[in-house]
Amino acid sequence: GIPSFVKIVEVGPRDGLQNEKNIVPTAVKVELIRRLASSGLPVVEATSFVSPKWVPQLADAKDVMEAIKNVEGSSFPVLTPNIKGFEAAIAAGAKEVAIFVSASESFSKSNINCSIEESLTRYRAVASAARKLSIPVRGYVSCVVGCPVEGAVHPSKVAHVVKELHNMGCYEISLGDTIGVGTPGTVVPMLETVMAVVPVEMLAVHFHDTYGQALSNILMSLQMGISIIDSSVSGLGGCPYAKGASGNVATEDVVYMLHGLGVKTNVDLSKLISAGEFISRHLGRASGSKTATALSKI
Ligand code: HMG
Ligand code: MG
Repeated sequence: GIPSFVKIVEVGPRDGLQNEKNIVPTAVKVELIRRLASSGLPVVEATSFVSPKWVPQLADAKDVMEAIKNVEGSSFPVLTPNIKGFEAAIAAGAKEVAIFVSASESFSKSNINCSIEESLTRYRAVASAARKLSIPVRGYVSCVVGCPVEGAVHPSKVAHVVKELHNMGCYEISLGDTIGVGTPGTVVPMLETVMAVVPVEMLAVHFHDTYGQALSNILMSLQMGISIIDSSVSGLGGCPYAKGASGNVATEDVVYMLHGLGVKTNVDLSKLISAGEFISRHLGRASGSKTATALSKI
């Protein structure tokens, strides 16, 4: 059956804002993170310690971490692509990090400028440095059903990198449909293959909603026992290295569906919606959440 509690991992301030054309001021990012944390979200991915040449949108990572150091209630993991990023993240006060590997060779090259195997070597160094400091490491796999360059990705490629992330000590592994091409027809066989190599309790799903398939894919994932869902307030997001990818599934829509199923999330939907209104107002565009749009008209 469906889990009775789902942990939502809010990725808007990172996955969302990394893809904004205009750089969002640090103070706006910080206020967004505060509002998301106060809505009851247990995890708010705050930023990335990546190259500012590759992702100028998140070049203020250190300042964001400094400004949220006293915010309570949520954990604030950050992306780290290598040991340099890991060290900068720890120096800035990060208490949890995430590493990100691709299931597709071409995407690895365009996203982090190295092969999958090279990235695994870098991440082993990050994971081992993290272990020494008792810092939990989340692992991401991108392109779990499709790659912008190579097209369909075979589930065995996903299972291979999932196993590697598990072996290096990741406590949770998030399966990313980076370009949102998956349907239950491709997502279910991928999940079956991955669930054969690691326990379902440690798996999260991360759907971009490019083709409008995210909620269907999430429902199937829940039915298969997944209880961790990544999403982005107002459906912010995309990926600078995955052309045409739209935002993550909107957190408001995920919460609305989960509460409708009687699943607990600990999230206050109205506070979440006001966090979404805050960032949408700043970006000068309508919310990407259907739930937020519907409730704002009542
Ligand atoms: P590179 O150019 O190959 O790096 O980039 P390098 O090691 O050759 O170094 C070049 C320069 O970058 C040097 O500086 C380094 O110091 C600097 P210079 O000497 O030229 O002045 N550098 C750094 N600076 C700051 N922080 C660092 C860092 N590392 C090196 N950590 C690199 C390789 C991995 C750094 C680069 O490709 C990069 O930063 N990529 C990040 C791309 C990214 O953030 N993508 C989006 C996140 S993934 C995603 O969205 C998918 C996900 O949501 C799941 C899904 O949807 O599927 C997670
Ligand atoms: Mg993503």
